Amino acid sequence: MRSVLYRRHGDPAEVLETVDVEDPARPAPGEVLVRVTQRPVHYGDLLGIAGRYRSGGDLSVPEGGNRVGFEGFGLIEEAGEGVDLAPGTRVAFFPGRAAWSEHALVSADFVTAIPDTISDEIAAQLHVNPLTTALLRRAVIRAGVQPGNDVVVLTAAGSAVAKLVIATLGRMGIDAIGVVRSDSGAAELSALVPGLPVISTQSEGWQERLTAVAANRPIKAVLDPVGGDLASQMVTLLASGGSLISYGDLSGEPIAVPALFFSTRNITIFGVTVGSWASLPKAQRIEDLELALQLAADHPSLFPVAARYDLADARQAAAHVERPGKAGVVLLTSP
Ligand SMILES: NC(=O)c1ccc[n+]([C@@H]2O[C@H](COP(=O)([O-])OP(=O)(O)OC[C@H]3O[C@@H](n4cnc5c(N)ncnc54)[C@H](OP(=O)(O)O)[C@@H]3O)[C@@H](O)[C@H]2O)c1
Repeated sequence: MRSVLYRRHGDPAEVLETVDVEDPARPAPGEVLVRVTQRPVHYGDLLGIAGRYRSGGDLSVPEGGNRVGFEGFGLIEEAGEGVDLAPGTRVAFFPGRAAWSEHALVSADFVTAIPDTISDEIAAQLHVNPLTTALLRRAVIRAGVQPGNDVVVLTAAGSAVAKLVIATLGRMGIDAIGVVRSDSGAAELSALVPGLPVISTQSEGWQERLTAVAANRPIKAVLDPVGGDLASQMVTLLASGGSLISYGDLSGEPIAVPALFFSTRNITIFGVTVGSWASLPKAQRIEDLELALQLAADHPSLFPVAARYDLADARQAAAHVERPGKAGVVLLTSP
């Protein structure tokens, strides 16, 4: 079968290879073998390929390379002992290893059967982004945001994750303000989410425009996947006792916060990662998946596809993910 791997960390558009590898073994008890037909290409995948999660300068890769991908959609080919999923069942999975392969062996604990009402392309996006949304929902509650009183600001608000979070905050009765980096992005987001105040940082004075839109309501939380100067500026706009909730590193730059903000304004900074979702208690995971299925069913327009690439074109797919103004998720497909 074909599989995507890398033999050294680096720019995904240079180091990814689509190669022929041995077919996986038959599923062990509690596992399923999935014929994977679609998988999203996430920023998180690119960070892993680039080696940006590694610390201490250790950029070694096992001999034979690292296979890529944790999320996918496909059809059950075979179920191991003790698993009640018939061959042909439509499923999505996360986390699974080597999802950017034509077949994947996955623990049945992390496989979701997909209702007929949800399309294959939306099912391929069911886990990472909606589950991150669930983590951010909990983070907003942890930050003590009071519906009707406080506001939550989202940076990179036109992203797939941010749009799911905005819909979720709406269900919680929490007012949100979106911040994007271009005027064209602001126009697009305003058209997609009528009633959402959107601020573009393209021209000067955006901090004052943001403060004016908040209209004296406390900015109790900022949800930020950008970091760098933008996140640093956001911290200065937080209300006393407010939280910067970090979930990405799009700028690749560190966040700088005056030390006195912690002691005199009680600012908190914390983060969430879907990478630790699988180790949450089962009851929590079931609740999170319910939110994911609800978002997929109620808001199909929040799961657009920007482009589809065959597995053979993984390098081009990875490069597409970082294109400014991209409208939707990039999918890798195979028959
Ligand atoms: N913590 C987790 O577990 C987790 C899980 C999923 C995703 N994430 C993170 O969430 C973020 C969004 O992912 P996604 O898949 O939803 O993204 P997406 O749909 O591809 O959208 C990316 C958005 O980020 C904006 N952007 C890119 N670089 C930027 C920069 N330097 N400054 C300001 N805005 C920038 C883009 O703006 P334009 O439209 O102007 O190009 C676009 O709106 C990523 O950082 C990703 O790593 C984290």
